[in-house]
Amino acid sequence: MDKLSITGGQALNGQITISGAKNSALKLMVASLLTPEPVTLSNVPNLADTRFLAQLLSTLGVDVYWPKGSNECHLNAEALTSTIAPYEQVRKMRASFNVLGPMVARYGHATVSLPGGCAIGARPVDLHLKALSAMGADLLVEGGYVKAAAIHGLKGARVVFPFVSVGATEHAMMAATLAKGTTILENAAREPEISDLADCLNKMGARITGAGTATLQIDGVEALNGTQHSVMPDRIEAGTFAMAVAATGGDVTLKRAPVNVLGAMIDALEQAGVTVDSDPSAETLRVARSTAPLRAVSINTQPHPGFPTDLQAQFMALMSLAGGTSIIRETIFENRFMHAPELSRLGANIEVGGREAVVKGVPNLKGAPVMATDLRASVSLVIAALAADGLTEVSRIYHLDRGFECLEEKLAACGALIQRVSAEEG
Ligand code: UD1
Repeated sequence: MDKLSITGGQALNGQITISGAKNSALKLMVASLLTPEPVTLSNVPNLADTRFLAQLLSTLGVDVYWPKGSNECHLNAEALTSTIAPYEQVRKMRASFNVLGPMVARYGHATVSLPGGCAIGARPVDLHLKALSAMGADLLVEGGYVKAAAIHGLKGARVVFPFVSVGATEHAMMAATLAKGTTILENAAREPEISDLADCLNKMGARITGAGTATLQIDGVEALNGTQHSVMPDRIEAGTFAMAVAATGGDVTLKRAPVNVLGAMIDALEQAGVTVDSDPSAETLRVARSTAPLRAVSINTQPHPGFPTDLQAQFMALMSLAGGTSIIRETIFENRFMHAPELSRLGANIEVGGREAVVKGVPNLKGAPVMATDLRASVSLVIAALAADGLTEVSRIYHLDRGFECLEEKLAACGALIQRVSAEEG
């Protein structure tokens, strides 16, 4: 199994271009199931997760043309050959579950395995099912699968989510595009990836208003057409590199950064004493820190526009080096502090109690062997390792490959001493 070998203590300097957003790309790829016409997506990140979803779509009969190394993915769901998404393909990645609604909306039936994904809590799909059921789908959960049928098509409905779910909002929104009548989604998620998906669906002929607010209105249409769409840049990748620079010191300009949707992260970095210059029109974010010490900042993760849960682990790595104590509260997922013991192996002082972590900053971290546990947790270890004295080896980096395109190359280009060691060499 590959490892990352990182020799810390190098400041990062230079430029990094941000890739397309994984979380947006996955849902945009799924949206291709809603139309018999070709959908061409550009700026699709080459990642284990996106490639994996492409495979699932192929299994269903979608004609996928996505040359190796290319960021342009062509999808044509003219005629599906199956509406069954098997366990082996859904368990590895939770976003695959979102194929259910679009297939029911277009074909009137689908059978999809209950999902897996990162081990960050129970992550049920009850809200997804509640929304589909409100739209008239008959659902049977049996043997680890959800069987859904809507012989006469889905119907518009009013769905009030009891709490905010990104996946359930996207799932319901996609299904509602082909339902008869109007669907209202209340307490909808406001994440920027939802607006990206709504923009693409509207180009396909859907009638969605309110994306980016807590109430979405979707007026169903008979059929959707094909389109071309460029995936929005990845705010989590941008935030991750910003925190890496904040941790190591240096001066890096992030290009193609989605500056307008990074407000909570920028605020937190500025409070910590990091220089952040954003230029929304040029889509650049300059992050710099000299030798000035970091200040401790407390955060609560929240649905957008609050501080994103997907940057919590990275921020914890940064706060490990701050002068003072910060409290990090995770309000979205119940089991998302698995990185804390690994960061402690590098010398961080973190105490976890329930949904709260108390991080007492230390002057230095020290390299050690550590293990990645989930996607965002693994990159927090990379950040800590870049700032630590000496050598760190991060194992189980297949988690990183799920979500970060060319991570080592991008960091190495800014001066990081980071190398992938393959199993044969290691
Ligand atoms: C998406 C993102 C993930 C991010 C998360 C929150 C993708 C592929 N993944 O995940 O990176 O961390 O949003 O910003 O876009 N829940 C239920 N029942 C449901 C659905 C969710 O109880 O039916 C719970 C979850 O367990 C979690 C919370 O709601 O505690 C929020 O989850 P949700 O917003 O749905 O996250 P995902 O869409 O899975």
